[in-house]
Amino acid sequence: MLFCRVMNLDFLQHKLDERINKGNIRKLPSFTGLVDFVSNDYLGLSGDLQLASRIHERCIAEKVPNGGTGSRLLSGNHKWYEEVEDLMKSIFKAEDVLLFNSGYAANQALVSSVADKGDTILYDQLSHVCLKEGAWLSRAETIAFRHNDLEDLESRLKRVEGRCFVLTETIFSMDGDVAPLEQIVSICEKYSAYLIVDEAHSTGVYGENGSGMLTEMKLDQRVFARVYTFGKGMGVHGAAVAGSKVLKDYLVNFGRPFIYTTSLPPHSVISVAETFKFLSEKDHLQSELQEKINLFRSNWTESSSHTAIQPVMIGSNMKARNVSKQLQEAGLDVRPILSPTVRSGTERLRISLHVHNSHEEIIQLASLLKKLI
Ligand SMILES: Cc1ncc(COP(=O)(O)O)c(C=O)c1O
Repeated sequence: MLFCRVMNLDFLQHKLDERINKGNIRKLPSFTGLVDFVSNDYLGLSGDLQLASRIHERCIAEKVPNGGTGSRLLSGNHKWYEEVEDLMKSIFKAEDVLLFNSGYAANQALVSSVADKGDTILYDQLSHVCLKEGAWLSRAETIAFRHNDLEDLESRLKRVEGRCFVLTETIFSMDGDVAPLEQIVSICEKYSAYLIVDEAHSTGVYGENGSGMLTEMKLDQRVFARVYTFGKGMGVHGAAVAGSKVLKDYLVNFGRPFIYTTSLPPHSVISVAETFKFLSEKDHLQSELQEKINLFRSNWTESSSHTAIQPVMIGSNMKARNVSKQLQEAGLDVRPILSPTVRSGTERLRISLHVHNSHEEIIQLASLLKKLI
């Protein structure tokens, strides 16, 4: 309070007021306890008590320290990090893997460090902000290509001189659509471009042992770098970059968000390892999720997405807020995604489907959507 009195904070309040006036102010929501149609915990692993007790028992048995204690380049490189990286090398079929504290840090470190002055970065216009931010932080020229548009990508690649990096995602976080991976890989090969694919929303949810879409499609060896995150379908925390050994050595030397930060708490690292082991015993979870997706799609026939992320387009911040409020009043936690998070005119509900959503809940959601939209 004292600070507010002595310091002029009008410049901050002014920008907040602009948002309030436009109806797009962001506020931290309170925990609702409603039916979960919002989290990225697609397989319900974050609340799985069997998995939780395996993690806790291991932490106690192995006297795991509470914190990382330093950068991995100093005191923070505990034995569990290398153990989980080795495990991931076999799961992701990669020559090497490097753990990161989050998907945000992984994408930012990777993209900002590999591309340099004179290079070009072509990114799908709907790429997650951490990929874009990585691009902007590099000294390369950055150009967006139209979302999932192969012709636009190719025509831009034709014009690039020098080294080029292409950024895309397997499943797009706001639209739930899937990139045409096979074709993108081939186009990148044709133009010798370095392809970086973010598997944030497919990690855990697709592929053997949760290895994602690229391994499922046998494209893994044709991609320069793959980014996996563990805070979504895996239900825990952290991320990894999979690729070659030289890429790992490079990131350890030049990836600033890797170097200048405290390593993940070892507890999180053990959580990742145990979750992968758990997933290998529970391969029915992926097909159960697919059944829930099919159930939703057969009841909400306007769906354009085949994944657990189901956008319902509304087209205005106010209406999106209103519809989500009515769904919440009916006990269903559905949140609006407003501009500027998405482009103005594409404001929507972002429905996440989960293994833990019952048939009745999914049918109730679809029938309320029919009434409200
Ligand atoms: C596509 C995509 N990439 C990366 C991230 C960031 O991952 P994390 O939550 O682990 O920082 C997100 C998170 O929303 C995402 O949707």
